[in-house]
Amino acid sequence: MKATDIKKVACAATGVIGSSWATNFAMKGYPVNVYDISEEKLESSRIFVEKNLNYLKEKGLLTQQQVDDAIANVVYTTDPEVAFHDVQYIQESGPENYEIKKKMLAVMEEYAPADAIIASSTSGLKVSEIAKDAKHPERCVGAHPYNPPHMIPLVEVTRPENASEESAQCAYDFYKLLGKEPILLKKEALGFIANRLQIALWREATELVHRGVCTVEDIDRSIVFGPGLRWALIGPGIGFQLSGGPVGIEGLLHHLEPSWNLWLDDMADWHAFPYETWPADVQKGIDEEKANRDEYYGQTDDEIIRYRDDALLQLLKIHKKL
Ligand SMILES: NC(=O)c1ccc[n+]([C@@H]2O[C@H](COP(=O)([O-])OP(=O)(O)OC[C@H]3O[C@@H](n4cnc5c(N)ncnc54)[C@H](O)[C@@H]3O)[C@@H](O)[C@H]2O)c1
Repeated sequence: MKATDIKKVACAATGVIGSSWATNFAMKGYPVNVYDISEEKLESSRIFVEKNLNYLKEKGLLTQQQVDDAIANVVYTTDPEVAFHDVQYIQESGPENYEIKKKMLAVMEEYAPADAIIASSTSGLKVSEIAKDAKHPERCVGAHPYNPPHMIPLVEVTRPENASEESAQCAYDFYKLLGKEPILLKKEALGFIANRLQIALWREATELVHRGVCTVEDIDRSIVFGPGLRWALIGPGIGFQLSGGPVGIEGLLHHLEPSWNLWLDDMADWHAFPYETWPADVQKGIDEEKANRDEYYGQTDDEIIRYRDDALLQLLKIHKKL
């Protein structure tokens, strides 16, 4: 299948990510079947999708007509036959759990056309494992978005060993058509690229807080007002290139070798997060951070989302991604 053959899409599961994907496909003019196992979830998804579309209208990115058309183009259903029988592309965004994703895949395969692509939003499970017992593993790929997928361009596309090159290429081309910034990984990797980087950073953040070097709030501020500003524009690689001045990244790496190796020696190298205490501790740190935030940056989760999305739109304009 080619990306241009895709005329109708299904979103399998409609939590945070599935609803945002549904927004994305609908705002780009695709009819979307939204599927979940409970009517209640579908209703909250409908509210979320309409809220997203109205926000984009308020920001001048969609007309009222486009919003009305997008809303009319979305069908919400708990019936898998209705959801999958006539689509060419399925974006699966079910819970991050092998057993549930395998069960969902079996349901999708029962009702979807045999050549429909099934793309999993998994944050980093192996799609080769999810699709191990599939009838048509060749059409199962990974397509990991970043939250919220209707705004963040990155989609990490993976081709598991049991999938065809054609399916992965079709998924990649489809996201390009949607205006996303897909990356086609050369081989499967748990956590793909961006989540491995995030977790490496988060391990060190955990270590620093546990050693008493800084607070959770300090971690966020160090990124937001430091490297995060650069990373949003040029990435860490080009960032180091520029930090090297005339000697570039090659010279910088030689120059900083003694320091970097000392830091590496001192940094966290444990292999399991301290789950007994850390989730509650970090939540406390985040609650304190939220209370300390200036009103301008938003204090409640809803206010922070608004602040994030308003600013994201400006960054996306700079990147010519709107
Ligand atoms: N939240 C994020 O920031 C994020 C980012 C990128 C990728 N992801 C990935 O996207 C996927 C979904 O994450 P989420 O945060 O949206 O989860 P979520 O918990 O918000 O939503 C999961 C949805 O799956 C539904 N569901 C459960 N069992 C089902 C079944 N058998 N059939 C159909 N639907 C079923 C639930 O009703 C719920 O609506 C996960 O694989 C996750 O790793 C999440």
